[in-house]
Amino acid sequence: MNNKQIFIETKEYKKFSEFCDACIKYQYMGICYGLPGVGKTISARQYAQWDYLEKQINYENVKLIDARTDNKILDCHTLFYTAPSFNATKLTGAIHDMGIRLNIVKDVYRKSIGEKEMTTSYALEGINLIIVDEIDRLKLQHLEQLRDIYDQHNVAMIFIGMPGIEKRLARYPQLYSRIGFAHEFQKLSKDEMHHILEYKWDELGISIKREDFSDYEALTNIMKITNGNFRLIHRLFTQIERILEINHLTSITTEVVEVARNSLVIGRK
Ligand SMILES: Nc1ncnc2c1ncn2[C@@H]1O[C@H](COP(=O)(O)OP(=O)(O)OP(=O)(O)O)[C@@H](O)[C@H]1O
Ligand SMILES: [Mg+2]
Repeated sequence: MNNKQIFIETKEYKKFSEFCDACIKYQYMGICYGLPGVGKTISARQYAQWDYLEKQINYENVKLIDARTDNKILDCHTLFYTAPSFNATKLTGAIHDMGIRLNIVKDVYRKSIGEKEMTTSYALEGINLIIVDEIDRLKLQHLEQLRDIYDQHNVAMIFIGMPGIEKRLARYPQLYSRIGFAHEFQKLSKDEMHHILEYKWDELGISIKREDFSDYEALTNIMKITNGNFRLIHRLFTQIERILEINHLTSITTEVVEVARNSLVIGRK
């Protein structure tokens, strides 16, 4: 996301967050799958408050907490981990390390506000969910590491991947038998996309103004081309901005949208 972009709480996000809550409640493993660009990663990060937490746990040696550390940290119980694209042998260590760091930061913060320290005894104490993104990258031996973590701790786990991952995981019976829920992350519905383009324009972080649309058809066309895919919406608008700039145009016509569409790699018909 760029700086101006804001996370939009879509219906799909709400469903995803209910799915996470349910996995926590039953302490299950869950799979979440969906097409590229629909918002799986960003939603998982939002659920885990990862933009905030990541900065907090990547502290430098000397300074464990800083001015940004606040009470919010005490409510963080979810870890977000992106499966590495190569050499995942240290996966267990990496996840434990995140848990330890979070617990240390929480303790130092508690102390700083005069609360009692918890002195946690194991790395994942207090963690109730671990979300693993890009699960498609992992081989059996790495999945086994995840199963171990799941078995050894009272923690829920969610795997995020592409459609078809649920079938691939079915080939590993021991892991698969632990999976309690599967959830498909879907693209935006037509109605919701319409709503976002109409009322949440500013939150999209696009520098084009809503008034720059010369005709309604151009907007309808954008809905058709992007077909509820968030990433495609951003790609298309970037192209539109570029085309307006190159041609010194100020308003978005159906023609501009068409040219933009043709320069996209994805979403072409
Ligand atoms: N709820 C949202 N609010 C704002 N922007 C969003 C939202 N969902 C998705 N986006 C935008 O769409 C882009 C793609 O989302 P994301 O990276 O989460 O997709 P993904 O489903 O994880 O795709 P992939 O399968 O390729 O990893 C984000 O970078 C962001 O710009
Ligand atoms: Mg992703």
